[in-house]
Amino acid sequence: MSFTRRQILAGLAGLTVVGLGAGGARYWLGRPGDTASHDYELIAAPLDVELMPGHATRVWAYGGQAPGLELRARQGELLRVRFVNRLPEPSTIHWHGIRLPLEMDGVPYVSQLPVLPGEYFDYVFRVPDAGSFWYHPHTASGAQLGRGLVGPLIVEEREPTGFRHERTLSLKSWHVDGAGAFTDFSVPREAARGGTPGRLSTVNGVHAPSVELPAGQIVRLRILNLDNTLTYRLNLPGAEARIYALDGNPVTPRPLGRDYWLGPGMRIELALRVPEAGAELALRNGPLRLATLKSVASQDALAGDWPPALPANPVAEPDLAAAETLRFNFEWAGVVSANLAQGAAHSFWQINGQAWDIDDKSCAERPIATLRQGRSYVFELRNVSQYQHPIHLHGMTFKVLASNRRRIEAPWFTDTYLLGKNETAKIALVADNPGMWMFHCHVVDHMETGLMAAIAVV
Ligand code: C2O
Ligand code: CU
Ligand code: CU
Repeated sequence: MSFTRRQILAGLAGLTVVGLGAGGARYWLGRPGDTASHDYELIAAPLDVELMPGHATRVWAYGGQAPGLELRARQGELLRVRFVNRLPEPSTIHWHGIRLPLEMDGVPYVSQLPVLPGEYFDYVFRVPDAGSFWYHPHTASGAQLGRGLVGPLIVEEREPTGFRHERTLSLKSWHVDGAGAFTDFSVPREAARGGTPGRLSTVNGVHAPSVELPAGQIVRLRILNLDNTLTYRLNLPGAEARIYALDGNPVTPRPLGRDYWLGPGMRIELALRVPEAGAELALRNGPLRLATLKSVASQDALAGDWPPALPANPVAEPDLAAAETLRFNFEWAGVVSANLAQGAAHSFWQINGQAWDIDDKSCAERPIATLRQGRSYVFELRNVSQYQHPIHLHGMTFKVLASNRRRIEAPWFTDTYLLGKNETAKIALVADNPGMWMFHCHVVDHMETGLMAAIAVV
């Protein structure tokens, strides 16, 4: 793919927040005159926030907050985001889970040129699927996501659902020390293992917040794991909660159960029946409290039955009888003590014996597999390592069929599958989106140390 630099240097001085759109659901940052050409002017810029009490941390924010401004669109409609880069380095935006044309996918040198400081880029695409998605750069991911460039993208169903209340909870841990200064986003010893964890856990940018919910109501909780490396073992002890969607696609509602393992990049939507006013629930990661959900008196009539299942997204059903099977091995291939030339990227991980080099722009010209447009494929994903890998594919949604390690009660559609240690799983898809699509582990320091590949659809 070749590029023209149609990203223009814009006169961006004096941008301010101009106000809330109707209903407050959507708002724009920037000049009102621009709203004819885009729905959001999303500015990425440094921002001082207080993560550690009494200390300022200079994070990188989208739309003046970190995690970033919640973007909303309606299923089937165009979403037009003018991304303005006011960071000190190049960046892009990738729309995680959205099936869109390659030119809008936000991967530098694969789908576009990086957006340089002071430039902007207009992302315009239709959103075919309703659900909870998110956005983040695909450049220097460890540091850029680590500094806060992650944000929710909510695509609303065309028709009203049975939910009258909802909340978005974005999970992210920060790599900061006790004085709020950033620590390393990735250290080789950790990158070669489970990934480098941040030490301060937050929900919507606040450590252990209290989230108020209306008593007696059923609330749709959209829980997004926007973390660089952490897999959360989510639980809500004592709660009446049901799973309605996973990673942007509806499932047949079922009880939440004990722990749900939500890997980096993954999302879960729950229906929660909020207990009587004054009661509290703990949203936890294993035994650790992430947030307190607090029930407060509500005027609304008591909620009745659970809402019906959410409508399915228009994802093509793979033809398993005709599908070709491709095998992908995810393996550890590093030598931690390797004496690397200064500045060279470490390589600890491989897919089918190949490590992606984030510094080599030509990697994307050597796809690991080439799929024929319109055909169905089964991918056999084999993890031959002791660590979990949330495996993510751009551009297309896949169906999880089977695993040798866990019971797949009902196949579901997703964009990310948490491949457990030594697990082999089968997924299937219709290769219906032409392009060069990234296929990678979403533990950011795994993907930056080899665990990424490109898959071509021609
Ligand atoms: Cu969130 Cu390349 O992905
Ligand atoms: Cu993605
Ligand atoms: Cu991984």
